[in-house]
Amino acid sequence: MLDLAPRPGDLEPIETASVDELRSLQLQRLQWTLRHAYENVPFYRRTFDAAGVHPGDCRSLEDLARFPYTTKQDLRDNYPFGMFAVPRQRIARIHASSGTTGQPTVVGYTQQDLDMWAGVMARSMRAAGARPGDRVHVAYGYGLFTGGLGAHYGAERLGCAVIPVSGGMTERQVRLLVDFAPDVIMVTPSYMLTILDELDRQGVDPRQLSLKVGIFGAEPWTESMRTEVEHRLDMHAVDVYGLSEVIGPGVSQECVETKDGLHVWEDHFYPEVIDPTFENVLPDGESGELVFTSLTKQAMPIIRYRTRDLTRLLPGTARTMRRMEKVTGRSDDMMIVRGVNVFPTQIEELILRVPGLAPHYQCVLERPGRLDELTVRVEARSPEIPDRAAGELAELIKHNIGVSVRVDVVPPAALERSIGKARRIVDRRAASPPAGAT
Ligand code: DLL
Repeated sequence: MLDLAPRPGDLEPIETASVDELRSLQLQRLQWTLRHAYENVPFYRRTFDAAGVHPGDCRSLEDLARFPYTTKQDLRDNYPFGMFAVPRQRIARIHASSGTTGQPTVVGYTQQDLDMWAGVMARSMRAAGARPGDRVHVAYGYGLFTGGLGAHYGAERLGCAVIPVSGGMTERQVRLLVDFAPDVIMVTPSYMLTILDELDRQGVDPRQLSLKVGIFGAEPWTESMRTEVEHRLDMHAVDVYGLSEVIGPGVSQECVETKDGLHVWEDHFYPEVIDPTFENVLPDGESGELVFTSLTKQAMPIIRYRTRDLTRLLPGTARTMRRMEKVTGRSDDMMIVRGVNVFPTQIEELILRVPGLAPHYQCVLERPGRLDELTVRVEARSPEIPDRAAGELAELIKHNIGVSVRVDVVPPAALERSIGKARRIVDRRAASPPAGAT
């Protein structure tokens, strides 16, 4: 794989500024954001007043802990534009979440917000190893989802040639990868696997493609998946994280030279990690739920947004800004099987340890009696299903996670393919309560 580490002059000054400089910039921006939200969004005025805090009470970054959280439900309650803090004439773009469970959440951007977003996304791509002049194949979906357009404008800002393919039409993805010879691909990791299978089907050797780096995000993926993709494509695979409520992709990014977690672009997004149950802020290094406060957003400032993503904060390495550990699960994706907490990513890690099994899988939850049962459906790599694979995986899961599951090994291509975010949990329990409920 190519050495893609940036040269010192490539970075923006803030990426290597001192921690003191960064903290003082954050405080200034935080004070502005709290005032802006309080003065222009009735929701924040109400929740701040109810909590007995005023923007003027924020004299240090620690004071942020006195302000109330914002949840996805709050955004839904203010559907569609109730969280906007600027007059409608200043809104330059609107995105929305898919809203698979109820009301979609809507987010808005001013032109300055779009500029900031392109800037952080370009910074992410540079950290990933992309360079001006590179060709970038964007296979994140274009539309209300922030993936496609977020990647698109970031790539343009960096000075790349964008190939705006979007998700789907997998045969054509392969053709464009061969004919247009891109340097970079941006896609969900699960759709990358689908494209890889199609490359195999068409007899194209993925290692012969021109790709030097894949920038994967929008869903959890594991270190084993990184090894798999890097090996099969002979390119770097790095993680990009983001969420529409905060901006879209480009909130944090793994650096290609270290691959040790994702640097949060803290000059624009202030991270905290909290205990999801007791809701207190945890010190850096402790795992919990990630919470973000925007520091520069105009159209939709967001204060202490509870992401439901589980991770921990770690000190900076390749950059001054803190890292977040790879997100291995959302609290919504936690399955509780006979009292044991299980995330799909834990299953993924183990699948990739069993020879003959492919990383296409689903976790099927059922409740035949009083207890939840979990069946892992996983594809074999070839039509001859290896005899021992199911037993081996069940054994690994029992040993490493401590729970008994059924394993169903199915032929290649038997499971539903995603063209965006994969659906890892299929909940067939009668009353269909959320995955984590007992
Ligand atoms: O998924 C934005 C995005 C697009 C990020 C393309 C990266 C690449 P939403 O649709 O609002 O936005 O979904 C946000 O997706 O809270 C996480 O649960 C999950 N997620 C995003 N990136 C990662 C990642 C986009 N790298 C939700 N690892 C977030 C794990 C991720 N989960």
